[in-house]
Amino acid sequence: MKTSRFFSLLLFAGLFLPGCVQDKLEVEEIPFEYYTQEELSTLQAKFSLNEIPDIYNSATITNPENRKGTFGRVLFYDKQLSSDKSVSCASCHDQSKGFADDKAFSDGPENRKTTRNSLALGGVPSFQNYNGSSFLPDKFFWDERATSLSDQTEETIQNPDEMGLEMDEVLDYVKSQKEYQILHKYAFPNKSIRKQHVLDALGVFMNSIHAENTKFNEAFNKTGTINNDMVGFTNIENIGRSLFVENCNSCHGFSIAGLPFSSSGQLQSTVANNGLELLNSEDLGVGSLNGHTTDEGKFKIPGLRNVELTAPFMHDGRFATLEEVVEHYNSGIVNHPNLHENLKASNGEPKRLNLTSEEKGALVAFLKTLTDHTMAEEIIWSDPFIN
Ligand code: HEC
Ligand code: HEC
Repeated sequence: MKTSRFFSLLLFAGLFLPGCVQDKLEVEEIPFEYYTQEELSTLQAKFSLNEIPDIYNSATITNPENRKGTFGRVLFYDKQLSSDKSVSCASCHDQSKGFADDKAFSDGPENRKTTRNSLALGGVPSFQNYNGSSFLPDKFFWDERATSLSDQTEETIQNPDEMGLEMDEVLDYVKSQKEYQILHKYAFPNKSIRKQHVLDALGVFMNSIHAENTKFNEAFNKTGTINNDMVGFTNIENIGRSLFVENCNSCHGFSIAGLPFSSSGQLQSTVANNGLELLNSEDLGVGSLNGHTTDEGKFKIPGLRNVELTAPFMHDGRFATLEEVVEHYNSGIVNHPNLHENLKASNGEPKRLNLTSEEKGALVAFLKTLTDHTMAEEIIWSDPFIN
């Protein structure tokens, strides 16, 4: 008790210090307390949660960010956060499916359907890099309409096809539940429950999701490049790697190895038209959002981590298998005024790769080296609800 008061005093003093010093104090000096026995019983009656915080954000359990991760985990799996209480974030972002789902369009509340394919939250090496990094695109959704994870989450909760609740309704519910009162108290000590806390907690949880335990990473950590044959890869996987470097890496490299960058160090592009026939004139991606003809048919270049787990593919889930995706790039590219240069032949027509069936299989084999099979087993990302 004495110590915690001492630290509160430090914190209080911190308010009057310059920003950076204050941040440091806040992170390091918040008094660390365990749940009381009563609180623990309340939580454990409903959730499978440990007394000791799980590590979400920092190697020290005393870092309060970890408590935000736990709060976020419960919110992520809570179906009460949807208009008819049938859907949670996890309904469309399923841990066993690379945090995507297996439908072209996802099932939302009130028998509604989303108008696009669910994006995999494990599609990049680490979601954290995405958000707040100086060089990775911190823009979310297929048309990149959200510029922060917090905006994305708020929009998702309010979208009638996804969760369909007003933030005030979410807040009233969270405030009314004794379990959330406890989780919140430890995640945001001495604060009353606010909208931003709900969004931040979900953010810490999502930022902790990373797909790095892959065959690809094991090899890449040794060589630091994907341009040469990779140690531990089969011959077929290496053929696929080489085809990927030649034909795919210019767009998808950032989600794999933090490549490629232009000479100025910037990502070359984060959205593109990849030659899909535009089946739905209502959905022209970035062009529908901003009304610019030069952006019509451009969609986010998705991360390819765990792509083996996230079928069906593309913004409208039109391809059921990776083989179909590879055939698209091999022979199916359709011309469009905004078709990306890298998918055009020198005469300006859509490129044809003319791959043999062995080469097509090799590309798929390479894509499968990007799967993190341990992600599905990770307890800190799993459903904490007992029933
Ligand atoms: C009913 C299905 C559904 C539910 C429920 C749902 N999502 Fe999504 N999520 C989607 C779809 C579909 C997209 C892509 C939408 C788009 O681009 O227009 C998406 C996109 C995202 C993205 C963007 C990823 C990226 O790479 O740009 C994030 C992050 C996300 N959802 C998190 C959440 C969180 C957090 C929740 C719960 C608060 C949630 N989702 C609930 C279907 C769902
Ligand atoms: C010009 C940039 C570009 C190049 C080159 C490119 N892609 Fe893509 N890729 C995209 C875009 C953009 C999308 C999303 C398009 C959409 O849904 O409208 C995409 C989608 C995908 C998807 C679907 C992922 C998902 O989660 O739905 C896979 C798999 C894929 N590409 C693999 C490849 C492979 C393999 C190659 C090389 C043969 C390749 N891409 C070359 C831009 C590119």
